[in-house]
Amino acid sequence: MDNESPLKAIIVVAATALVCSILVTAAAVSLQPIQQAYQDLERNRILVRISGAGDAVDEMSDRQVIAAFQNLDARLVDLDRGVFDETYNPNTFDARKAAAPQQFTVVIPDDQDVAGLGRRSSLVTVYLVQEGDELQRVILPVYGQGMWSTLYGFIAIENDLNTIADMTIYGQEETPGIGDRILRPDWQARWRGRKLYDEQSVFRFRISQGDIEPDSPAAVYQVDGLTGATVTINGLMNVMRYWFGPHGFATFLKNFSTTGGS
Ligand SMILES: Cc1cc2nc3c(=O)[nH]c(=O)nc-3n(C[C@H](O)[C@H](O)[C@H](O)COP(=O)(O)O)c2cc1C
Repeated sequence: MDNESPLKAIIVVAATALVCSILVTAAAVSLQPIQQAYQDLERNRILVRISGAGDAVDEMSDRQVIAAFQNLDARLVDLDRGVFDETYNPNTFDARKAAAPQQFTVVIPDDQDVAGLGRRSSLVTVYLVQEGDELQRVILPVYGQGMWSTLYGFIAIENDLNTIADMTIYGQEETPGIGDRILRPDWQARWRGRKLYDEQSVFRFRISQGDIEPDSPAAVYQVDGLTGATVTINGLMNVMRYWFGPHGFATFLKNFSTTGGS
C-alpha cells in the first residue's frame, strides 16, 4: 500500500489505538489487586486508630497495623433484629455493595430516611475491641448525605454502649476549607466523652448551632458546630440521628447491653 494513502494512515492510527487501549486495560486490571490491598490497609489503619491506638498508629508499620486490625473482633449485625448474624463472613461482607442486591436490601421508610440513604443493607459489619474477655469499645460504621457528597465515618463507643469514645470521617467530598472542616482532628476530638442517649434511652446527641452552656445538663450530649458549614453539619447530624435511631443501631445497642447481642 502506498505510504501516502489515507487508508494506510487510518489503519495505522486504529491499530496503535487498539494496542494502547489493550495495554492500558491490562495495566488497570493487573494493578487492581494492589490498589485494593492499599485501600484495605488504609481502612485498617483508620479502624486501628479509632479502636484506641490514636496517633500511635502513625508510627506503626503496615505489618503492625494488620496485626492490630486482626485483633479486632469483626461481627455482622442484623440491624432489623438487633442481633449478631453468623451466616456470612464479616471481613468480606461489603455493606456498601450489599445495599444493591435485593436479598440484603431494606428500603428505608421516607419518614425515617433523614440521612438520605433510600435503602441500606440489613447486615452491617461492626468491630468489637476486646482486652481479654472484656469489651472496651464498639466501632460502628455510619454514612449519609452531606451538602455535596456522602459522608462516611466510624463512631467508636465505650463499653457502656452510650459514650462516644472517638469518631472519624474517612470519606467525603465537601468544599475544601468549608464543609471539609469536619475532618479537623481538634473538632473530632470534641466528640469524645459526649453521650448518645439519656437515661430513658432517648437519643439526645446534638451538634450545637449556638454556644454550649458547659454547666447545663444538655452539655454532655452536645458538640460545638462549625460556623459557615451548617449544611454539612446538619447532614452529619442527620447521619447520627439515623444510625443511632430505631432504623439504625438502636435496637442492636439495647439488645447488646442486656444480652450481649445473642
Ligand atoms: C461555593 C460554595 C461552597 C460551599 N460549600 C459548603 C460546604 O461544603 N458545606 C457547608 O456546610 N456549607 C457550604 N457552603 C455554605 C452554605 O451555602 C451555607 O452558607 C452555610 O452552610 C451556612 O452556614 P452558617 O449558617 O454557619 O453561616 C458553600 C457555599 C458556597 C458559595
